[in-house]
Amino acid sequence: SGPRNVGSLKQQIAKLFEESLRRTVPDELDVDPAIASCQNPKFGDYQCNNAMGLWSKVKGKGAQFKGPQPIGQALMKNLPPSEMIESCTIAGPGFVNVILSKHWMAQSIHNMLVNGIETWSPELPVKRAVVDFSSPNIAKEMHVGHLRSTIIGDTLARMLEYSKVEVLRRNHVGDWGTQFGMLIEYLFEKFPSGEVSSAQAIGDLEAFYKASKQRFDSDPAFKERAQKAVVSLQRLGVHLEEKGESFYNPYIPGVLELLNEKGLIEESEGSRVIFIEGKNIPLIVVKKDGGYNYASTDLAALWYRLNEEKAEWIIYLTDVGQREHFEMVFTAAKRAGWLPADDSKYPKASHVGFGLVLGEDGKRFRTRSTETVKLVDLLDEAKSRCREALIQRGKAEEWTTEELDKTAEAVGYGAVKYADLKNHRTTNYTFNFDQMLSDKGNTAVYLLYAHARICSIIRRSGKDIEELKKIGTVELTHPDERVLGLHLLQFPEIVEEACINLLPNVLCEYLYNLSEDFTRFYTNCQKPRAETLVSTFSNKNLNTMYKHQYICFIDQLKSAEACF
Ligand code: ARG
Repeated sequence: SGPRNVGSLKQQIAKLFEESLRRTVPDELDVDPAIASCQNPKFGDYQCNNAMGLWSKVKGKGAQFKGPQPIGQALMKNLPPSEMIESCTIAGPGFVNVILSKHWMAQSIHNMLVNGIETWSPELPVKRAVVDFSSPNIAKEMHVGHLRSTIIGDTLARMLEYSKVEVLRRNHVGDWGTQFGMLIEYLFEKFPSGEVSSAQAIGDLEAFYKASKQRFDSDPAFKERAQKAVVSLQRLGVHLEEKGESFYNPYIPGVLELLNEKGLIEESEGSRVIFIEGKNIPLIVVKKDGGYNYASTDLAALWYRLNEEKAEWIIYLTDVGQREHFEMVFTAAKRAGWLPADDSKYPKASHVGFGLVLGEDGKRFRTRSTETVKLVDLLDEAKSRCREALIQRGKAEEWTTEELDKTAEAVGYGAVKYADLKNHRTTNYTFNFDQMLSDKGNTAVYLLYAHARICSIIRRSGKDIEELKKIGTVELTHPDERVLGLHLLQFPEIVEEACINLLPNVLCEYLYNLSEDFTRFYTNCQKPRAETLVSTFSNKNLNTMYKHQYICFIDQLKSAEACF
């Protein structure tokens, strides 16, 4: 791939205003440029919102400026020359509106196209992250609650990976209790009347463990359950490494000792606990019976991820019900000096909580028999509904069974993922097959349709993408072309925003709008093609220009696809 781009549009504009701020208010060097995209495109593409804040800072100090508006004027005048900007205007109390140069935009899209969308990835403040997601409990079936963790976690991991962060994908499976349960069961089985003393049994624990593990491995009912969970993950195209709770078990005593040395651990009603300011109940780290628990495991895991794996950002995905638990664990880590107290600094730990999945009755999603819904069944139903819809459209005659299956899977699983991701993750969302499989509105089906249409335009051109990249140039003449072009160039800052705030729905919204902008462009710019060809693009191959747009779009969908 080609040379790396110099930052998102927003960052590039911020650099220009940084210089202007230095020139305008040389005594206020701590002020960062406040750049936002314009809410109303009538006024411009981006705006600089520093004038008001600066006015309240400088108004007491001499009379260089007479209000926020003159500050805005000065900020505009002091901008260094740049081929990126076509013109600026002042609005209201000193907002500087920026209109980007069409020529520069066209050139940038061309670079994006030729060098590859990956050269436009945002730069994030971390190099290595742990994403702890999916994390079902081994002895139980994976259900719809783990579906959200898996889908949202996988998407966050992909967005970070696109941004060149090394991601350690961790499946923190609940395997700890199971293993001990397994040992106990085996002990009872071997010595039903307790004829062996516990001291002897513990001395033999390792051998016992091996023997019981063998038994465990040969239990077909258990094996099937574990396998089903793994198969569900593969079907969603999710890859992650299992490092279950039991992995951190040997680290717990040492980590608790570290916390103890810092004076964090106290005795309370027979348990060993950490008191957290502002919380009614303490974090229990050693139970009354001397056993460790979920919290002690998470403290050990956090220590391990920071110190052994050298992760700078540790991200946990569970439902919002576990917020309290993570708040307490993170606070303890801050008090121990493992994490900075300031949440805007790294290394950092973030709990990404999400809402419940609801059934159409508005209650917790369950099957008729009040059991929780199994992930495998959901995916199967999505696929079979899509298959049915395709057959109704006559695809059974047109396609092979294999093609039919592949398409039904892509659309069906895609629809389940997208329906989850497009919502703000903290809201509860209603699981509705009819809605998620509709070809109208904000659905995966609609996005896939736009994608397929672009692919078919390129196919019909008879040329491949590499060839199309070499011939023709991008121009943004029609207003709808410009809208589409600007949108394409905003991809990096959208991914950045989605990563920093851990919000996949930001990327979904971007893609939905992109598909709409594309549809508008396609309807409005294809029809006047003949006239435009003659008048504006007389010596240009308009057809090729359009194709350049399409290819950019596909690249983005692909990397967006890489994010799904
Ligand atoms: N196994 C847990 C559950 O099903 C989720 C684990 C989340 N990760 C963690 N490090 N605590 O609720």
